[in-house]
Amino acid sequence: MSETIRILAIESSCDETAAAVVENGRRVLSNVIFSQIELHKLYGGVVPEIASRKHIEKISQVIEAALDESGMTLQQMDAVAVTYGPGLVGPLLVGVSMAKALCFATGLPLIGVHHIEGHISANYIENQQLEPPFLTLVVSGGHTHLVIVRDYGVYEVIGQTRDDAAGEAFDKVARAIGLGYPGGPKIDRLSAEGDPLAIRFPRAKVEDSPYDFSFSGLKSAVLNYLNGCEMKGEAVNRADVAASFQKAVIDVLVEHTMEAADALGLPRLAIAGGVAANSSLRMAFVHACEEKKIAFYHPSPSLCTDNAAMIGAAAYYEYRSGRRSGLDLNAVPNLKLGER
Ligand code: KG4
Ligand code: ZN
Repeated sequence: MSETIRILAIESSCDETAAAVVENGRRVLSNVIFSQIELHKLYGGVVPEIASRKHIEKISQVIEAALDESGMTLQQMDAVAVTYGPGLVGPLLVGVSMAKALCFATGLPLIGVHHIEGHISANYIENQQLEPPFLTLVVSGGHTHLVIVRDYGVYEVIGQTRDDAAGEAFDKVARAIGLGYPGGPKIDRLSAEGDPLAIRFPRAKVEDSPYDFSFSGLKSAVLNYLNGCEMKGEAVNRADVAASFQKAVIDVLVEHTMEAADALGLPRLAIAGGVAANSSLRMAFVHACEEKKIAFYHPSPSLCTDNAAMIGAAAYYEYRSGRRSGLDLNAVPNLKLGER
């Protein structure tokens, strides 16, 4: 194995067409993202077929741009990595097919990466000193997972959502108060103008599963509150609704995570996924971790949401442990963390 390992990584599991070149899992030489958000805004959410078509249109350009920006050629890569699940099957297939074609043409090894493993690994990029074991909370549009990272590539899921993902709740509530898609960043901004204590929304606990989450009751409570206001002819203070909803989500995420960190005696916590970009969530964890003397890590907002650099970071550790995928790699829309 040569000393420096460079990986071309591809991510297309949802509505971002992304490619990156990452050196030794921690140094990003390029990170190119074509976001389809503008396209899907019209429909209030991601339309899978439209996303697939756009990925096909953009993927070659995005890969070329990533190689160009890194100052490297495909021949100088040591491997090609690609997200193969979980995600939308059509979009995933575009990335997987492209990665397989590049490997077939060049003879480079192929590494299939789990999307959530990518989100978690985004933390390695800006925190050079972070190493397993640590506890991590993955909060994205499709996932809410509390995971122990035992070692590189070794994960133990100790809690997850029973219904909506945290990001999904943000998106649905944003839509209900007329903020549009994607709702997370909009609720984040609007909350700064509202009172988080104005409305008391419920904080759900899942019986007998202290580390599991449930957000569908909270979402219904917000919808009921909005309906109630409408029926009474009362004006809705959207900033107060956003801030109170956001606080309810954050309280639950922080409480469950800190309980787990305490019980397991893990001195390091990292957060990951699109919702980890939320400014109030970060602040809440900064305070909670300070109090408990736990080291807290989080990626920059641009590395929290979907990108290919995180896939390159995860792929490096897969590469180092000798794991390779065959050219029969397929997209697995409901791939579980830890499954291969
Ligand atoms: O990780 P991601 O880009 O895609 C998935 O793997 O799902 O996460 C997207 C989710 C969306 O639900 C979006 O609303 C949410 O992350 N999000 C945020 C923020 N930025 C993105 N949620 C709350 N606050 C934010 N600042
Ligand atoms: Zn994601």
